[in-house]
Amino acid sequence: MSDSVQRPTLQVIIASTRPGRVGLPVGIWVAEKARQHGGFAVEIADLAEIALPLFDEPEHPRLGRYTHEHSRRWSERIARSDAFVFVFPEYNHGYPATLKNAIDFLAKEWAFKPVSLVSYGGASGGIRAAAGLLPVLTVLKLLPIAGSLPIANVSSLVSDGVFTGTERHAATLRRILDEIARVTPIAAQLRS
Ligand SMILES: Cc1cc2nc3c(=O)[nH]c(=O)nc-3n(C[C@H](O)[C@H](O)[C@H](O)COP(=O)(O)O)c2cc1C
Repeated sequence: MSDSVQRPTLQVIIASTRPGRVGLPVGIWVAEKARQHGGFAVEIADLAEIALPLFDEPEHPRLGRYTHEHSRRWSERIARSDAFVFVFPEYNHGYPATLKNAIDFLAKEWAFKPVSLVSYGGASGGIRAAAGLLPVLTVLKLLPIAGSLPIANVSSLVSDGVFTGTERHAATLRRILDEIARVTPIAAQLRS
């Protein structure tokens, strides 16, 4: 719990690191909606900016014995977070390697924290990528929130570098944020 009115910290993790990515505008839209929701202190974790290398720690992350500054910084950010929205594209019917890499760097930092998935792509809206990610989340004891937001034909909704979701997208995201807000205090008790 981090801001002055003790709202839980919601980390919007932008997974695509590709130059020209639509992930950045989609992530900014998600973060803006989360700020408007009012229930969270919202941060954006942009994996392009964070620039983790491919996983390079000698020991299993569950031991928490990180040898690199980039791992310690990433660990600190995720440890102080209370909930997550992962914003990610579908690549070749899967989720992007950048997201798996960022997840694998850590272990206990993820446990008993709600997560929701905003996937995007072509006609499928990234649903195969989201389905593929679920087993990874559960083994780390992340708490996937029922309901996710698949955004189909995403590029048609981005203009001049700005993503504008439809009213249906916004309504689904509001429901998801309400669910995260309900579960987050209970999850915090599980961790205490
Ligand atoms: C390597 C690669 C693979 C892709 N595979 C899929 C796919 O399986 N399903 C889909 O709906 N879109 C696919 N796409 C289209 C992406 O969803 C689309 O390019 C999207 O903008 C990528 O997100 P980004 O711009 O944030 O990186 C693929 C794009 C790339 C670059």
